[in-house]
Amino acid sequence: MNFYEDKILPHLIHAACSQRPIMHLREKVIRLARGQVLEVGIGTGINLPLYNPRKVEFVWGLEPSAAMRKKAQCSIAHSPVPVKWLDLPGEKIPLDDNSVDTVLLTFTLCTIPDWRLALRQMHRVLKPDGRLLFCEHGRAPDAGVRKWQDRLTPFWKPLAGGCHLNRPIQEYIESAGFIIEEIENVYIEHAPRFAGYISYGHAAKKPR
Ligand SMILES: C[S@@+](CC[C@H](N)C(=O)[O-])C[C@H]1O[C@@H](n2cnc3c(N)ncnc32)[C@H](O)[C@@H]1O
Repeated sequence: MNFYEDKILPHLIHAACSQRPIMHLREKVIRLARGQVLEVGIGTGINLPLYNPRKVEFVWGLEPSAAMRKKAQCSIAHSPVPVKWLDLPGEKIPLDDNSVDTVLLTFTLCTIPDWRLALRQMHRVLKPDGRLLFCEHGRAPDAGVRKWQDRLTPFWKPLAGGCHLNRPIQEYIESAGFIIEEIENVYIEHAPRFAGYISYGHAAKKPR
């Protein structure tokens, strides 16, 4: 890990991802979390204050970056729910099949290198009646915005910890065996459109 990734990036991501309009969308999905939760790419723990301790037993905080885990210490100390660390990537979730009630994915699918494998792992560990909650930025519907997302991604990726601007979120989630139960797509206020097209909602496992 270089100086930028270790000392600067966690602070930049924390500041960018905790803007008020984004927190408002996070609240809308996290209020649906219940039981045992797996948060994939928990980052600096921005979501932790939003969990309802009457509904959530504990959170598995999966985060491969040591720098992010370090910056999360303060949020964990004040978390309303217990957090158990998993210091592995989403492609290697070390939990049993059908073992968690909720998988939470916020602003992480853009970054996971092998998103197919990671989503299959999330599908594997989610109970049959569990829910995948998501709030992710991704590929915009407007051709002009999409053109810039494709152009900028190669430059953006190394600066933003591997983030892609142009991933089609709904398509990726559905391709891993989930059914979208509810989805809203919005351009977020006060953000450039190439980085501000957000899809949020919830999905269930497709019945076999
Ligand atoms: C933009 S940050 C978002 C953090 C947090 N989810 C949030 O909503 O604020 C992306 C996160 O994905 C994590 N990440 C990167 N590669 C990953 C992988 N293979 N599996 C799981 N998380 C990963 C990064 O370390 C980082 O914490």
